[in-house]
Amino acid sequence: MTLYGKHVLITAGPTWEPIDPVRVIANRSSGRQGFAIAAAAAEAGARVTLIAGPVALDTPAGVDRIGVETAEQMAEAAFSALPADAAILVAAVADWRVSPSPTKLKKGAGPPKLDFEPTRDVLAELGSSEQRPGLLIGFAAETERVVEQAIAKREVKRADWIVANDVSGDVMGGARNRVHLVTAAGVEDWPETSKEEVARHLIARVADALD
Ligand code: CTP
Repeated sequence: MTLYGKHVLITAGPTWEPIDPVRVIANRSSGRQGFAIAAAAAEAGARVTLIAGPVALDTPAGVDRIGVETAEQMAEAAFSALPADAAILVAAVADWRVSPSPTKLKKGAGPPKLDFEPTRDVLAELGSSEQRPGLLIGFAAETERVVEQAIAKREVKRADWIVANDVSGDVMGGARNRVHLVTAAGVEDWPETSKEEVARHLIARVADALD
């Protein structure tokens, strides 16, 4: 059971949406789970494209890394990397952006009024794309009704699987993870373990599914 000859596309980490030349809107994603999945996919023999937001992690051996900052750049890079046999979208993409000020906002001008607009949803766009990867996997970070919301997300975004995790504890940035795998067949509750072990289990399932 290997991924030789397969192209696996992975997104990981946060995105940064600029407010002005020095400030960004960000989130707590460390990129660890996505990087562990990229490493496991490369170990299984896949050609791996890892589109990573700003994180301080080394690129796993055998992985092609494309560094991006914004959701727009992540979407562009993802579509440029197609076709892919499987895509695993682990990134915590910012849901909102603002039109950044070209010059630094000054404190003396008072609190800025930020007009938010939605970012591109990479998973949903891939889900309805003509170039949709054969196996499309999303993650769902939730703090409540974890599985219920993941089931809904799978349908709305047209993903094959959703890996749902409860981020109400210290999962974001932490070393361990407890996930539920939501597929068309139902929901599997996986035991809490390291992010590396979650990655190996998931990649074994991907290899099975692509076989
Ligand atoms: N995702 C994405 N592009 C976005 C937002 C999310 O590709 N602009 C992907 C994530 O990588 C993940 C999945 O969609 O695979 C779920 O992301 P999540 O943040 O949990 O869901 P949202 O769609 O942002 O919905 P909400 O924040 O309301 O839960």
